[in-house]
Amino acid sequence: MIYLEICLGTACHLMGSEEIFSSIEKLPPSVREKITVRGMHCLNACDQGPNVRINGKVYHRMTPEKLIEVIEEIGGEADA
Ligand code: FES
Repeated sequence: MIYLEICLGTACHLMGSEEIFSSIEKLPPSVREKITVRGMHCLNACDQGPNVRINGKVYHRMTPEKLIEVIEEIGGEADA
């Protein structure tokens, strides 16, 4: 299981956290069903957003592309 916490605080929102959110919706259902998504108010790194915490680790300056990479790395078996 992949636990994804997306910061939806003002700073991260302005830096594109919504794009991150919509990129998850575009993932194939087989991958999507392994991901639990939660919105967070602030991950205390507002100047480095958008911030996403994945299985407890915070990733800064997240992009949809980088998110897919990390998900593939963590859940390599996700497509199997
Ligand atoms: S608003 Fe996202 S880390 Fe603070």
